[in-house]
Amino acid sequence: MDESSRIYVAGHTGLIGSSVIRALESGGFTNVITASHRDLELTDALAVERFFDNRNPEYVVLAAGRVGGIVENQTYPADFMNTNLAIQLNVLRAAHRAGVRKLILFASSCMYPRECPQPMPETALFSGYPEPTSLAYAVSKLAGMQMCLAYNQQYGEKRFIPVIPNSAFGPNDNFDPKSGHVLSALIRRFHEAKATGAPSVTLWGSGNPRREFIHADDIADACLALLEGDTSQLQFPLNLGTGKDFSIRELAEAIASVVGYAGKLEWDTSKPDGAPRKLLDSSRLLAFGWRPSVDFTAGLKSTYQWYLDSMATQGVQP
Ligand SMILES: NC(=O)c1ccc[n+]([C@@H]2O[C@H](COP(=O)([O-])OP(=O)(O)OC[C@H]3O[C@@H](n4cnc5c(N)ncnc54)[C@H](OP(=O)(O)O)[C@@H]3O)[C@@H](O)[C@H]2O)c1
Repeated sequence: MDESSRIYVAGHTGLIGSSVIRALESGGFTNVITASHRDLELTDALAVERFFDNRNPEYVVLAAGRVGGIVENQTYPADFMNTNLAIQLNVLRAAHRAGVRKLILFASSCMYPRECPQPMPETALFSGYPEPTSLAYAVSKLAGMQMCLAYNQQYGEKRFIPVIPNSAFGPNDNFDPKSGHVLSALIRRFHEAKATGAPSVTLWGSGNPRREFIHADDIADACLALLEGDTSQLQFPLNLGTGKDFSIRELAEAIASVVGYAGKLEWDTSKPDGAPRKLLDSSRLLAFGWRPSVDFTAGLKSTYQWYLDSMATQGVQP
């Protein structure tokens, strides 16, 4: 890959896609291809085929998809499956047909069995049933990952690289408490509690489950390393995590501190905890030479600042 390579980033306005765009821009890549959702509906096979015919990308980063927190997953499981399956099917088929040199597909740590040895190695995939509350999403992502492996196997090439990031955060995240993930939803809840002077914030569960979070800039950095490096000897899929996890209680305290919320944290233990731990074993990617570099607290601070800036842009009073 060189600076004039044609690189298509699907989902460039999203959390991960926008980070990949920033990384490509700062890496001096001048031929980055994007299309907004409005201009290109990726579930439309014919439109995707035409787009690839017209733009002829050499590299593809597939960061488009339907994602969300537990409530969204439970409310719209059919939409989650439909959208993700169709996007993956269409983009992979078009990329294969166009002879794309490398494609990165973002799968998800939700694909791992609910009861999984920790940290979770890639070899544990398909060894058990994923968490039921996000099953439709998990199955759609397993299908996308497996489709990459199937293309690689059938055509004797290793062009399609399925990557499994753990929970991502950063600018352009979804901060809606109903549809967002835990970290961004907590930023918003603490911010609002601070703004209204609420004496306490009650959170679901015991606060004991442990989770791994990775800044989208680290995901983008790994993505570029994989696009640029020699990946011929790597075994796919590839977990992508920081190797460090936090309890939800530690996460909540860290966010409260970054936001400047001084009230009490209360835990509603009548609500479910979810899986006790979700930490990825990222040794394959570490052996490739990649390392995360975003400091967690610094990443939280810049994400909160982005949230404040985006609210100010929308004219919302803090
Ligand atoms: N966020 C995480 O923690 C995480 C972790 C692991 C893996 N992943 C995977 O990484 C990928 C990106 O996640 P993300 O968090 O960056 O998602 P995101 O912030 O919701 O962004 C999704 C992007 O896809 C676009 N998109 C969605 N449906 C589309 C469609 N039918 N046609 C065209 N564009 C469409 C969206 O555009 P509009 O907003 O305009 O619709 C947006 O640009 C997903 O495949 C997800 O499964 C995410």
